Amino acid sequence: MKIINTIEELQTIRKELKGTIGFVPTMGALHEGHISLIKNARVNNDIVIVSIFLNPTQFLPNEDLDKYPKKDAADKRICELCKVDYLFMPDVNSMYQSNDEISIKAPKITGFILEGEKRPGHFDGVLQVVLKLFNLVQPSNAYFGKKDAQQLSLISQMVKNLFLPINIVECDIIREADGLAMSSRNIYLSIEERKEALAISKSLNMTIIAVTKGERDAKTIKTKMKEIMSNLDVEYVAIINRNFEEIQTIEVKNTIILIACKVGNTRLIDNMWI
Ligand code: PAF
Repeated sequence: MKIINTIEELQTIRKELKGTIGFVPTMGALHEGHISLIKNARVNNDIVIVSIFLNPTQFLPNEDLDKYPKKDAADKRICELCKVDYLFMPDVNSMYQSNDEISIKAPKITGFILEGEKRPGHFDGVLQVVLKLFNLVQPSNAYFGKKDAQQLSLISQMVKNLFLPINIVECDIIREADGLAMSSRNIYLSIEERKEALAISKSLNMTIIAVTKGERDAKTIKTKMKEIMSNLDVEYVAIINRNFEEIQTIEVKNTIILIACKVGNTRLIDNMWI
């Protein structure tokens, strides 16, 4: 595996690459969720490129960017074991040349509901950095997890709206054996908080059972979910279709049920695609 630290080097190498390129953009602190994206890229492409870049523009001023877990040595090892060809780890000054750059705006509605409402400006930063990375890497396929469902949807929309010749591959959520969705933030949870956080996946599992038994009413499902998560500080429970429009009636194969909540000081998100 070759580690690339500069944009110039990436651009030089990229010119010589032939075949399909699978790209997995990350902010580091890699876990099983990332590993499954990388494995998917490895199986389906000639070349695999992973990026690790802790992108400052997607953090709000009150969000502690400095506290985001940094695990460069472990991340490099994971990428090597997953047979990544190139690991791109640029620094902030090369990715952002000034504070007055041309920027990209998330769509006015779907970019500013749910996560976008709680974290205004977050998706502008995500789309800005992903577009930069796409322009540098020029992948054939780019891999994103369904756990960040809104991010995935907005990136797919960007690719469509800006005519980028990239296939976005949606990858399933990877969970711990007890159901907790894998996240770089899980390491902040105390033992007690981790136990409490299981109410999130419990409530999502309940929705599958309820829908299988015939329940379709979104309000009823939300009420039951909130009951299961009564020990948590729930920010939102949303039931939407794949266009991110709120729905009253569950449509099988076209529904996503999303949760954001705080467990102690840690903000977690999770969802279920039905
Ligand atoms: O999902 C993430 O880790 C980040 O939002 C991404 C897509 C790497 C952009 O910084």
